[in-house]
Amino acid sequence: MKIVSVIGARPQFVKAATVSRIVAATDGLREVLLHTGQHYDDNMSQVFFDELSIPQPNYNLDIGSGSHGAQTGAMLRDIESVLVSESPDGVLIYGDTNSTLAAALAAVKLHIPVAHVEAGLRSFNRRMPEEINRVVADRISDILFAPTQTAVMHLEREGLKDNTVLSGDVMYDSILYYRHQLDADPDSHRLPDMPERYYLATVHRPQNTDNPDALSAIFAAFAALPCPVVLPLHPRTARYIAEYGIEPRNVRLIEPIGYLWMLRLLLDCEKALTDSGGLQKEAYLLGKPCVTLRTETEWVETVHDGWNEVVAADRERIEQAAAAPMPTAPRRNAFGDGHAADIIVNSLLNRL
Ligand code: UD1
Repeated sequence: MKIVSVIGARPQFVKAATVSRIVAATDGLREVLLHTGQHYDDNMSQVFFDELSIPQPNYNLDIGSGSHGAQTGAMLRDIESVLVSESPDGVLIYGDTNSTLAAALAAVKLHIPVAHVEAGLRSFNRRMPEEINRVVADRISDILFAPTQTAVMHLEREGLKDNTVLSGDVMYDSILYYRHQLDADPDSHRLPDMPERYYLATVHRPQNTDNPDALSAIFAAFAALPCPVVLPLHPRTARYIAEYGIEPRNVRLIEPIGYLWMLRLLLDCEKALTDSGGLQKEAYLLGKPCVTLRTETEWVETVHDGWNEVVAADRERIEQAAAAPMPTAPRRNAFGDGHAADIIVNSLLNRL
């Protein structure tokens, strides 16, 4: 059986690394890896292939940046021609990026079954491009691998129960797999010259970066925090900081970094301040409180236990949440048993 896995952006490299490792060890299943080139800078892409030992992609479409229509359209056209020549038994897609949507559309129109890893997430905010990508990808996929019971519930409500498999979350598999490497050699991925106490932040969502008021409020809050903020800077955020004339204070700006470096930074920080989906969950799973710089979150399980406070780009609320005492509630694990990738691979073999 042959599957084509489509990836393109940072979070997809991490998820695919975990599934690809199990696929490679499975008899009777062959994977063709297609990278759309949505992320193309070395430190947004190649670094993940190197450190997570992801095989080099069989195809790299080099699509690069563009408006949503131009980027998704170019991917759709080029993914289609790869699928026509490879004629796989299924297409595996991840998460909610434009690469996810393009692959789902290309495959479904060629009558190739689509399996969606991280299905059923909902923010219920249709102004997020990722929400549109998820809703459409789930609707046209044949197998929906839901990471949590909440995701299963969303899919059931949308009438997609028969296609849904509760797999658990491949990012939890990934944390368990790589955490022991970090524990075994704590200095192996520790950046030099980091402050002793710091907050770890990431900011890249359009609702924050493309809005001068929001981005200014976030940096004003960072300036007022009791210890420095370490911020690996997404290229889009860098562009807007310059454009709006924001001068980050109390912030240590660093280049985007690989997965293991990021996990190390997270393990050593006081709290995470982020608008990323993945980092909210990684913080929760590693026992770090999170302050979410958005108006809502898909990962509601992290909020229920008091470990994640959703405060939007509100200066005062960010400062309060960052200064709040450590939560004491135990963390429930809603993300599976660390074997999501095995469940996914077995289901592919049985269902395709
Ligand atoms: C994408 C995903 C988002 C995910 C994020 C992870 C969509 C709609 N969004 O957002 O869900 O959380 O990836 O990082 O698919 N750029 C570079 N170099 C790169 C990549 C991007 O300079 O290697 C710059 C370009 O100026 C580009 C901008 O970043 O225009 C945005 O990149 P894009 O891939 O469109 O979306 P992300 O914001 O990264």
